[in-house]
Amino acid sequence: MKKVLVTGGAGFLGSRLCERLLESGHDVLCLDNFFTGSKANVAHLTGDPHFEVMRHDITFPLYVEVDEIYNLACPASPIHYQFDPVQTTKTAVHGAINMLGLAKRVKAKILQASTSEVYGDPLVHPQVESYWGRVNPIGVRSCYDEGKRCAETLFFDYWRQHNIRVKVVRIFNTYGPRMHPNDGRVVSNFIVQALKGDDITIYGDGRQTRSFCYVDDLVEAMMRVMATADDFTGPVNIGNPNEFTIMELAEKVLKLTDSPSKLIFKPLPSDDPQQRRPDIALARETLNWAPTIQLEEGLRRTIGYFRDTARVPQFALAG
Ligand SMILES: NC(=O)c1ccc[n+]([C@@H]2O[C@H](COP(=O)([O-])OP(=O)(O)OC[C@H]3O[C@@H](n4cnc5c(N)ncnc54)[C@H](O)[C@@H]3O)[C@@H](O)[C@H]2O)c1
Repeated sequence: MKKVLVTGGAGFLGSRLCERLLESGHDVLCLDNFFTGSKANVAHLTGDPHFEVMRHDITFPLYVEVDEIYNLACPASPIHYQFDPVQTTKTAVHGAINMLGLAKRVKAKILQASTSEVYGDPLVHPQVESYWGRVNPIGVRSCYDEGKRCAETLFFDYWRQHNIRVKVVRIFNTYGPRMHPNDGRVVSNFIVQALKGDDITIYGDGRQTRSFCYVDDLVEAMMRVMATADDFTGPVNIGNPNEFTIMELAEKVLKLTDSPSKLIFKPLPSDDPQQRRPDIALARETLNWAPTIQLEEGLRRTIGYFRDTARVPQFALAG
């Protein structure tokens, strides 16, 4: 049994990871400042003697004894990371320094939840790990994109300079149950709007593409990355390479929810990438991994979750 720290453990991805680590027989310390995560996401785990929740902000140092660290703490949606951009950069950068410092002190292995945003608005499609990206350093998304890029730099410098065992995973658009209903991410947005019968908001003309990975596939890949040999650092892309236009996604959600909602179009937000699709050859080869849950099935499960959360007052459905 390993002692595993999950920062951001009360968030969408972190809470699912905590569950899977417990199922695999580990002792899990879930750390969160509850900015976008919630106690409700892990409430069902708190009776487990191998599970512990700790309120802590990773921009401050942490002293605990653990064998492995998954560093997921960071607001992930533009609405949340742009709410306090300076804090976002601090979380990405100071947070990485603090967690790497901890890994160094206790000789833990550490995995960074990086992002496809490190590729910016890419000129290479699909994105391969060797592509350095095209990122605006001074825009409204830069606190997140550049923060995550700097965190990757720190991971590789700690690896070169201090021989820390590091793993960097570049996560592409992931969706599933426990996504925040109001954080403006496209899958949750469309599902909530469709279930409420509200207009479905498409930014731009809907021809921009995205690829969507179901949460369980992502978590499985993260655990496989953690289990790789010490000489494997990544970065490794994790995502679902099937590409859909935003319009196709909206149509699927309308069909699966049987919703009367109409599509409306609004201008594209600043620096929104036109195309995003992972090349996952490295993940296939080193992890023997590929996504198993395709979009319709994943959407069905996610829609089921949002129908259930409709019981929560601030998310009451119309009609
Ligand atoms: N979901 C995706 O599609 C996606 C894509 C790329 C990368 N990621 C990365 O995966 C990680 C998890 O994302 P998510 O989708 O679960 O988002 P989320 O917002 O649900 O989870 C982030 C968690 O981190 C916590 N947190 C934020 N700042 C913190 C701080 N300073 N100290 C401690 N806790 C803090 C939040 O309260 C939340 O529980 C993030 O690092 C994100 O950048 C996610």
